[in-house]
Amino acid sequence: DRDFLIAPSILAADLARLGDEVHDVLEAGADWVHFDVMDNHYVPNLTFGPPVCKALKDYGITAPLDVHLMVKPVDRLIGDFLEAGAASITFHPEASEHIDRSLQLIRDGGAKCGLVFNPATPLYYLKHVLDKIDIVLIMSVNPGFGGQSFIPEALNKLREARELIDASGQDIRLEVDGGVKTENIAEVAKAGADTFVAGSAIFSKDDYAATIADMRRELDR
Ligand code: DX5
Ligand code: ZN
Repeated sequence: DRDFLIAPSILAADLARLGDEVHDVLEAGADWVHFDVMDNHYVPNLTFGPPVCKALKDYGITAPLDVHLMVKPVDRLIGDFLEAGAASITFHPEASEHIDRSLQLIRDGGAKCGLVFNPATPLYYLKHVLDKIDIVLIMSVNPGFGGQSFIPEALNKLREARELIDASGQDIRLEVDGGVKTENIAEVAKAGADTFVAGSAIFSKDDYAATIADMRRELDR
C-alpha cells in the first residue's frame, strides 16, 4: 500500500523559536517540513524566503524541506531555494509564465518538483507534465493563511488526481494542504492523498507526538 507522510507547516509554528519547533516536530514523528513562501503579491500575506530555509539547514535540520512557493514570478526564487537546501519545490501553474521551464529548473537543480492546484483551478495543467513531476499538491483552502477550514470539494479533486497519477504509472506523491486535521485525515487519505500538510492542527497542540500519533492511527484505520 501507499506510505503516508506527514508534513507540518511551519507557518503555524512559534516563529521566534523556529529551529527548536522544527526539531521538536521531527522528533515527534513528522516526515517532511512544509515551508510556505508567500510574497504579498500572488497571495495577500508575507512569510519567509531562502535565508530562513538555509538557517534551518545550518541549524542541523536534515529532514526534507518541502518548499511551497506562493509567489509570482516563480523562476527567480528557484535557484536560491535549491542552494538553501530545499528537497522539493512546488509552485502554482498560473503563477509561472513557462511551467515546463520552471519544473525543469527545479529538477535540474536536484530537487523534487511539483504543481499546486488552488481550490478552483482545474487539473488540466497536469496533462502534459505527468512524466516530469514528483508531486501534485491539492490546496484544500485558498492559499495565504493557516487555520482555515477544509473545502470539501477538494476530496473530488483528490480522487481525480489519484486516478490521473495511477493511470500515468509515474512515481508521484499526492499532497494535500489546508485544514487537514486528525478528524478528517482518514477521509482525505481515502480520497487518494498520501502526503498531508498540517499547520494549526499540529502546532496549536501542546503534544506534537500525540497529535501525529493520532493522525497515523487514523491513517491506519
Ligand atoms: C496555506 C498554506 C498552508 C497552511 C496550512 O496557504 O499553504 O500550508 O499553512 O495550514 P493549516 O493546516 O492550518 O490549514
Ligand atoms: Zn502550503
